[in-house]
Amino acid sequence: MPCTVLVSGFWGDEGKGKIVSYLALKDRLNVAVRAGSVNAGHTVVYKGKTYKMRLVPSAFFYDKCKLLVGPGANINPAIFLDEVERFGVKDRIWVDRQCSIIEEKHINRDAGSSFLTKKIGTTRQGVGPAIGDRVKRTAKLAYEIPVLKPYLTDVALEVNKAIDRGKKVLLEGTQGFYLSLYHGTYPYVTSRDTSTSGVCSEVGVPPTKVDDVLLIFKSYITRVGSGPLPGELSEEETRRRGWVEIATVTGRMRRAAPFDYNLARRSAIINGATQIALTKLDVVFPECAGAKRFGELSKRAVDFIKEIERKVKVPVTLIGTGQETMTIVDRRRGSS
Ligand code: IMP
Ligand code: MG
Repeated sequence: MPCTVLVSGFWGDEGKGKIVSYLALKDRLNVAVRAGSVNAGHTVVYKGKTYKMRLVPSAFFYDKCKLLVGPGANINPAIFLDEVERFGVKDRIWVDRQCSIIEEKHINRDAGSSFLTKKIGTTRQGVGPAIGDRVKRTAKLAYEIPVLKPYLTDVALEVNKAIDRGKKVLLEGTQGFYLSLYHGTYPYVTSRDTSTSGVCSEVGVPPTKVDDVLLIFKSYITRVGSGPLPGELSEEETRRRGWVEIATVTGRMRRAAPFDYNLARRSAIINGATQIALTKLDVVFPECAGAKRFGELSKRAVDFIKEIERKVKVPVTLIGTGQETMTIVDRRRGSS
């Protein structure tokens, strides 16, 4: 803090929603900005209830946090309005005038393309075709959509002003680093740059204003859709280890592999990580479930964390040991 960027270290679904909601409540975030689009689902389990967000920033759990969607994001107005209603954030959410719009035709183009659905294995949400139209300069922007009128603002300027005033600002990255259009496993990637620099560019925050980059890894790797996954386990082995996950947006079973230190190091370098958040430690080391202090972790779990710090060369400061938002070991300075 004051300006932190949270980004994925592997292929997404590391638990950004959980970490963002924790930071919002624990640090009392003033402003949270979401990047990306509706292809990325963020899940939060708070006080026993499960929430799934596709456009509203996961920081909404802290009711004083201002919620913004940056100009690089792509909005499906129906999904946005539905979430705004369901999460009751009408009076504190704004979208940039220049967010681009996903229309029915984009969804049809995504779902109707066998290249996209079969070869790449997209989420069929129309995001790629919508960005394609934006690149062609034919996409509609948020200011052209009457139902979005009450929510419009200059998000880039708002965020910069908040940072200049010393407010606590979090940029919530989406999807996976290795799904980056530039740095990922092309062509098996999404249609945007998911790295720290990409998130900053989408929101309009210059590199000189970022204080911290929190890179998030899960204690194992998952991937949905096609493309390489080093160390991929068979479905049988994935089940045996208890690593089965179902994708938030598409309902597909995620492919799984053990934690990869080389991929993690590369990701830390390109994203400029200053801290690591490690999630689902309890899935790999069940004896750590529910731990809230470092001293409660088992020796083998501590060895794993030390190995990450040694090989990736970045401190692991937040450790998730359960689904609930507040079930975290917080090793940041000044935290208990
Ligand atoms: P698209 O983003 O829907 O075009 O899909 C491109 C690729 O990225 C596919 O392999 C998707 O499964 C994957 N993908 C897109 N969004 C996410 C996400 O939020 N988490 C994980 N994988 C994603
Ligand atoms: Mg997800």
